[in-house]
Amino acid sequence: MDYQVVVVGGGPGGYVCAIRCAQLGLRTALVEKGKVGGTCLNWGCIPTKALVSATKLLERAATAEEMGIAFAPPAIDLPKLAAWKVGVVSTLVAGIETLLDRNGVELVRAEGRLDGPGRVALSDGTVLSTERIVLATGSSAIEIPGFSFEDPRVWSSDDALALTEIPEKLVVIGGGVIGLELASIYSRLGSAVTVLELLPEILSVVDLDRRTVATLKRALKLQGIDVRTGTAAQSIEDGPDGPLVRTDGDAVPADRILLAVGRRPNSADLGLETVGVEPDRRGTLPVDGTLRCGSDEVYAIGDVAPGPMLAHKASAEGVALAEAFAGGEMRTFDHASIAQAIFTDPEIASAGLSEASAKEHGHEVLVGRFPYAALGKALGMREPDGFFQVVADASDHRLLGAAIVGADASELISEAAVVIESGLTLEAIADAIHPHPTLPEGLKEAAESALGRAIHSVNR
Ligand code: NAI
Repeated sequence: MDYQVVVVGGGPGGYVCAIRCAQLGLRTALVEKGKVGGTCLNWGCIPTKALVSATKLLERAATAEEMGIAFAPPAIDLPKLAAWKVGVVSTLVAGIETLLDRNGVELVRAEGRLDGPGRVALSDGTVLSTERIVLATGSSAIEIPGFSFEDPRVWSSDDALALTEIPEKLVVIGGGVIGLELASIYSRLGSAVTVLELLPEILSVVDLDRRTVATLKRALKLQGIDVRTGTAAQSIEDGPDGPLVRTDGDAVPADRILLAVGRRPNSADLGLETVGVEPDRRGTLPVDGTLRCGSDEVYAIGDVAPGPMLAHKASAEGVALAEAFAGGEMRTFDHASIAQAIFTDPEIASAGLSEASAKEHGHEVLVGRFPYAALGKALGMREPDGFFQVVADASDHRLLGAAIVGADASELISEAAVVIESGLTLEAIADAIHPHPTLPEGLKEAAESALGRAIHSVNR
């Protein structure tokens, strides 16, 4: 055998799995046809966050007058902004290449395809033999009838992140995570943005309570983003002044159309038939509790496997698998408890169950909330919008879920994630002395409120 493990796909699932396998002494190859880091690093999480931070600066400067500081209108040098973003990504890609090398992973730059049990055929004609194969091939944006990425008027998230222009009028199809993050970025860059969402509510694929989503919707409206729910985008027409997106109601003018209606696992043309594995209708690979698909030593992690399409879920699965390969016990994951952050303005982050889901699961719940507007630190930051929410089981006070909508929610959710994953209670948060004045005090206050002993909000 050439290898003990061959990982196909070098995103946050695959490269992390390969590094951990090599650290544990397994002879490992990573097969990647593009850049290591995958969608997350090259065309997703990282470039988006660079642009969130850059464009947030525009918004902060534009509204600083309230604090007695006035700036002249900013000049946006789009090629320079794009180059800076590319620099951030390139630094991280180079870092991963170094880590692969130093840990002894062989990086094979080719497209890989299954060629029967224990065999991975490469695009250059060679075949790698291996004891185990890990498929970590990620996902791709999907199209809908009437809109094709071949059409230059239609942008994928990759096109939007390439920053080639700031369209005067941007129509975003899909009020999901990607649609709303990019809607916020382009709105701050100066585009007039309309979001068309098919379902009655935005972000309905994420387990969030109505009140959390309503807070974001109000803020998006104030920012001038026109969110139209219950609206099906049907086709593109040529209008007198440019393209129009025809919906089931009317027609919306658009210079560019960003299609963000979901992603599909990359499971086609992988040679799955050679190992007797069949993806489900959506393209997801069926796995058992050890992440194995089928009867041979073929495993799947990340977006191509079941569960939320999140980089940190993919990485966690990669590490768990590597440790099981090296003789450890297989760690299993409760998909519902995995924390998630959405980088809109305000941000939304959640871990575990929403109040509604906790009740659906049969829990009698204690719920506590605390507003940003009552936190000294938030007011000093000029970030008064949003709130913290905790949901606990009423019988034993175990924390079941937390949601934060507001400034830096993505940074603040991890405390709740640790408490939920460790099976700890409201008291674990309420009794821990939190430094003052800081934003995490909001989580402590929400826990105290759930226990009926809040100091800075009125107990009900
Ligand atoms: P999504 O599933 O979050 O949202 C797609 C939205 O498009 C849905 O609300 C759907 O109802 C809507 N839609 C579908 N057809 C439509 C039509 N014809 N007209 C109007 N709306 C329509 O998918 P998205 O945003 O593409 O993200 C893909 C995946 O990537 C998600 O699983 C997400 O979790 C993940 N992701 C996570 C991020 C994060 O955690 N910060 C960032 C980016 C992506």
